[in-house]
Amino acid sequence: MSALSALQPISHPMFTLHKISVQVKRDDQIDEVISGNKWRKLKYNLLHAKAINAKGIITFGGCFSNHIHACALACKQQQLSAIGIIRGEADNQDNYTLAWAKHWGMQLSFVDRKTYRLRNEKSYLQHLQQQYPDYLIVPEGGSNALALIGMAEVIDELNQQSEFDTLLSPVGSGGTLAGLISADKNQHKILGISVLKQDGYLVKQVNDLLPEHAKAHTNWQLMSQYHGGGYAKFSAQDAQRIRSFSAVVGIDFEPVYSGKMILALLDLMSTGYFPAHHRIVLLHTGGLQGLAGMFERGILNPNEWPSLPAPPVQ
Ligand SMILES: Cc1ncc(COP(=O)(O)O)c(C=O)c1O
Repeated sequence: MSALSALQPISHPMFTLHKISVQVKRDDQIDEVISGNKWRKLKYNLLHAKAINAKGIITFGGCFSNHIHACALACKQQQLSAIGIIRGEADNQDNYTLAWAKHWGMQLSFVDRKTYRLRNEKSYLQHLQQQYPDYLIVPEGGSNALALIGMAEVIDELNQQSEFDTLLSPVGSGGTLAGLISADKNQHKILGISVLKQDGYLVKQVNDLLPEHAKAHTNWQLMSQYHGGGYAKFSAQDAQRIRSFSAVVGIDFEPVYSGKMILALLDLMSTGYFPAHHRIVLLHTGGLQGLAGMFERGILNPNEWPSLPAPPVQ
C-alpha cells in the first residue's frame, strides 16, 4: 500500500543545534480543500453514510470551521446532501468558510450558543434524527469512532515510511489524537498539543474516544501549556515566529492548530526535552482555509500569509 501523504524531512538551525531530525507528515497535501485530518476523519464517515444509504450528513461547527468547509465539498463529491448546524449568527453566512460551504451545496442552519451547547446531548440528537431520519449525524470536528479508523491510517503509513521516536499533533476535540494513539502499538511517543485553554476535560475525552484495545496505551501525553491564550488566540510575536519557521522550512502552517504545534516543538527543543538524535514527526493537519476568517476580521495581514483560492461569487 502506498502512503496517502508524503513524509518530508525538514531542516532548521535549531534541529542541527540540538542534533534532532524532524519530518513532516504532509496530510495538508492530501487535497486542496479536504486536507489534513479532515480527509482522514471524514473518509469512513462518508463511506458509512453511503453504505447505509443515507441521504446525507448533518454536522456541527463554528463560522470558520475547517470541518464544515471540508465536509461540504466531501459530501458534494460523494453525492450526499449536507446540513451544517452552525454556532452563531446568519450574518456570518457570507464569510469565506461558509460562502464556500454554501457554494458546495451545504444547507446552513444557524443556532445560538445555548442550543449549540446541546450538540452532544442524547435527547437533542434523538430529536434531530427524528427531524432528519435519512441523515447520518456526525459530531463537531468529525470526531467519532469512524474518524479514529481514518486517523489510524496515519500510523500505518508512517510505519512503512520511516522509523521515528515521537509524533506531534495539534489537538482540538481529541479525535485526531485518539486515532493516532489507537493505532500505535506503544512503539512511539505521541504528543498532543492542546490548542484550547480550558482543556482539563480533554484527557478524559480522548480516553472516552479510544477503542477498548487502546485504553491501556501509555504512549501518549497531552501538553496544555501551548494554547497561547486560548482557541484561535495568539500574539503577533507568535504569529511572526510561525511565519519565520515556515520561511525556513518551506512549509506553510497556520496559527490556530499546526502553528501552535510548531511553537511547542521549538520550545520543547530549546528546553532540552528531546535527547540528541531524537527523531520527530510533525503531523500537518491542514486547516489553512482558516486563515481567510482572520484576514476578514483584520487579525492577520493577508500579504504576510499564503494566499487562498478566491471566495466563490454568490
Ligand atoms: C487543522 C486542524 N488541525 C487539528 C485539529 C484538531 O483535531 P481534533 O479536533 O481531532 O483534535 C483540527 C480540528 O478540528 C483542525 O481543523
